[in-house]
Amino acid sequence: MSNTTTNADGHVTEKAQPKAIFACLMAALAGLMFGLDIGVISGATKFIQQEFQISDQVIEWIVSSMMAGAALGALGAGSLSAKLGRKKSLMLGAILFVIGSILCGLATSPTMLIFARFLLGLAIGIASFTAPLYLAEVAPENIRGSMISLYQLMITAGILLAFLSNTAFSYYEAWRWMLGIIAIPGVLFLIGVFALPDSPRWLIMAGRREEAIKVLHRLRGDEKVIQQEVAEIEEQLKVPQKGWSLFKENANFRRSVGLGVLLQVVQQFTGMNVVMYYAPRIFEGMGYDTAAQMWFTAAVGLTNVLATFIAIFLVDKWGRKPILYTGFVVMAVGLGVVGTMLGMGNLSHGQQTFTVVMLLIFIVGFAMSAGPLIWTLCSEVQPLKGRDFGIGCSTFTNWIANMIVGATFLTMLGTLGQGTTFWIYAGLNVVFIFLVFLLVPETKGVTLERIERNLMQGKRLRDLGQ
Ligand code: BGC
Repeated sequence: MSNTTTNADGHVTEKAQPKAIFACLMAALAGLMFGLDIGVISGATKFIQQEFQISDQVIEWIVSSMMAGAALGALGAGSLSAKLGRKKSLMLGAILFVIGSILCGLATSPTMLIFARFLLGLAIGIASFTAPLYLAEVAPENIRGSMISLYQLMITAGILLAFLSNTAFSYYEAWRWMLGIIAIPGVLFLIGVFALPDSPRWLIMAGRREEAIKVLHRLRGDEKVIQQEVAEIEEQLKVPQKGWSLFKENANFRRSVGLGVLLQVVQQFTGMNVVMYYAPRIFEGMGYDTAAQMWFTAAVGLTNVLATFIAIFLVDKWGRKPILYTGFVVMAVGLGVVGTMLGMGNLSHGQQTFTVVMLLIFIVGFAMSAGPLIWTLCSEVQPLKGRDFGIGCSTFTNWIANMIVGATFLTMLGTLGQGTTFWIYAGLNVVFIFLVFLLVPETKGVTLERIERNLMQGKRLRDLGQ
């Protein structure tokens, strides 16, 4: 027997069942893949450059081809996960991930590396769209919120794992192992996804109601909860997804799509991924040797994981805007100081340490704010019938902006110098404080229906939560 509670409206909830929790954990592992993909390249670039004797610009291509693939993957993932279903899409993502990472490890030329990283990107573009969708569809409602936070946490854990394994392999200069080894978690993920049930919501969408009910019997314990969930899914599906036509005819929807796109540009232009992809190079610029570069990079990864907890604890207490303001101020100060110190050159030991600490403070600023919150806001501001389209547009933008940042950093360092480069990113973070003030709504504790009503009534974006 399961434990259920019924609220005043007659809505029944039950304790999360172990099988549902297992399904959620498996899907959250896609976050780990996402993180491994982001983190794995930073430690390898130096050795790749030595082996193939290539310029910084070719390195930028090797780094960024992953993001180009991810943008394309995210673009196709919507129709893929509607046609094939969430489970098969995740499996396809996992297979591409394994092939991509093995090919990276075996690459015999920069071109092959670019191609293999593109495949890895496709994998992660598909998974980064499908996993949160699957999570939202199979998670019992009382743990749905924490499951989405868990996903972001898994991204940061994946980055940390990649940084740590890079550090170990760096002693042997074994870049092929760095890139290839992530095939192992990829295979484990594939096996796990194989054991997952399809999402009940997708089965009902595909007209397979009986199977959906069977899956729900596996995931939920109580008959009343199952019947209620089927009824709710059927009710929701009465609102057809018509993103593109809504986009063409409704100016208010264009505003929410625009906001989602802008938020993701903001997230990427904080400069976070500059550190994710090029941290060892940045520490080299501070005057550290290879071992120190790698260990400090691992410290960056650990700080990123730990500071994500700040966001998880504060998001429903402080609200979105105060956290974002704090985050952007911390990031602007952190990068501003890093830029000043690097601009001075020839740092003393104490100054080096101070610069490392300020870079870590920047990481805290991102992980406690824009990292998780931008994803949350991007899904909260879209109206129901345009949600898939709206989130698709913002996710696509995330990867394109990510690519621009990754593809320009070394060139910026080479032409503008370290100091100016970091100052530009610090300045952008200052601009973002104003953008948050002018455009971002406070959505803490506000129902999605209310946000949608305000949007469609033409209220200012910043007032959508009122
Ligand atoms: C961003 C990624 C970033 C990661 C760092 C995510 O929210 O979308 O681009 O690499 O956070 O933790």
